[in-house]
Amino acid sequence: MLQKRAREIGDIIKNSREVHIVTHIDADGITAGCIAYQTLQRLGKECSIEFVKQLDESVLTRLKDENYELVWFTDLGSNISTGYPEINKVITDHHTCSIESNQRFHLNPHLFNLDGGFEISGAGVTYLVSKTIDKKNMDLSQLAVVGACGDLQDRKYNKLSGLNRNILDDGESVGVVKAKIDIRYFGRETRPVYKLLQYASDPVIPGLSGRESACISFLQEHGIKMKDGDNWRRWVDLSKAERRVVISNIARVFLSKGFGYKTVKRIIGEIYLLEQEEEGTEVHDAKEYATLLNSTARYGKYEVGLRVCMGDRGEWFKKARNLLSGHRANLVEGLQFAKEEGIERREYLQFFHAGSGIRDTVVGIVTNMLLNSEEINGDIPLVGFADKGNGEVKASARATEELVQQGLNLSSAMKKAASVVDGIGGGHSIAAGATIPKGKEEEFLAILEQEIKNQLVSI
Ligand code: C5P
Ligand code: C5P
Ligand code: ZN
Repeated sequence: MLQKRAREIGDIIKNSREVHIVTHIDADGITAGCIAYQTLQRLGKECSIEFVKQLDESVLTRLKDENYELVWFTDLGSNISTGYPEINKVITDHHTCSIESNQRFHLNPHLFNLDGGFEISGAGVTYLVSKTIDKKNMDLSQLAVVGACGDLQDRKYNKLSGLNRNILDDGESVGVVKAKIDIRYFGRETRPVYKLLQYASDPVIPGLSGRESACISFLQEHGIKMKDGDNWRRWVDLSKAERRVVISNIARVFLSKGFGYKTVKRIIGEIYLLEQEEEGTEVHDAKEYATLLNSTARYGKYEVGLRVCMGDRGEWFKKARNLLSGHRANLVEGLQFAKEEGIERREYLQFFHAGSGIRDTVVGIVTNMLLNSEEINGDIPLVGFADKGNGEVKASARATEELVQQGLNLSSAMKKAASVVDGIGGGHSIAAGATIPKGKEEEFLAILEQEIKNQLVSI
């Protein structure tokens, strides 16, 4: 069924002369847009692409006026499939949607009883269409793997699952991706080992994460040499035996602090390597690649992200790496800022308001990091607010897998609360966002809290 829909959408695309792509600004959106763009280029179609933070009235009205022959929405659009008939469109998205949005031009896992939160990403559904157009596009599966990792779809099972696995198989079969079991912490290939530990956030290592000198002593205590000549040793520079020593001692730290097997298990899992990329660069490991992309379009540097995805490893890649250091600094600062502002705890949710202290485009990442930090109890969802600077406020909500298991659905709760205050919201059950008018935060929180309570209590 889903395959058939993908083929039908592929046919609509093949029958169009000129296509305009509209995609999202995060790693999944960039990779989705790039898969669409390359698919069209390989078909010899005339094509253009634009990046948007969200599909609001103003974007849609403009698109209507621009009167494209066909608009291809990737990683967004699930909510407009019954509206805007004037826009001739196809949609490849993975956000929660209603059953009414089941249109012949809309490919979305939720319409086929699959969960777009972890079984397939926006880049993944776009790839499925691309593959029906031409099997030669199977090399683009590597971008779909990067997109899925960017959306943290490997978190639930410590590896990609659902349709993501078929995409991974495609990538392995054409030799562009390789799955490997290793430490899941970020920065295996590019960070000194002590930095990998210091920034370990998923899960946070008690006593080590956030503490540089503690990480250095930990490695020294266990006989791990920090430097090779003048160079800091990275995770990939460690021998197998050294890696085993580090991992078993991290496990020991968790166990001694009372954490269970479930937490310890999360240290290790599948990681994905892009076979055609150079080892030690930000684009070799899918997770690092996704972070590199998140450093571009979220800061308005759309072309940088797109060019890197298209394969540039020269000037544009250099630009992306420069943006990456800014992004990292922003996240560290943002985290600090939110902690200083203070997190207010209510019965069914907790929140912080960053005002203009955190960009609206990265407040979601900060919210996620904070929810997973040592300072916060993740027993209820966390909402982060940031001013958008145009009389609107961005809200990002994040939860844990445990809460989702208990019936929490942030997507529907955020959608409902936002619509009551004349905003728009949506997303996934574990992570959702909204834009609301400034000044409506309190009203929004009250409705959101009630919705969350209903979800958690009615089960
Ligand atoms: O817009 P989009 O679908 O691309 O983004 C998905 C969002 O869900 C990301 O911000 C990702 O960090 C978040 N997420 C999460 N925890 C998960 C899965 C996804 O916070 N387990
Ligand atoms: O922006 P943020 O990272 O908090 O978004 C979390 C999830 O909610 C993403 O998947 C995003 O695409 C989605 N979202 C949405 N509608 C909005 C805002 C965010 O579907 N208005
Ligand atoms: Zn996505």
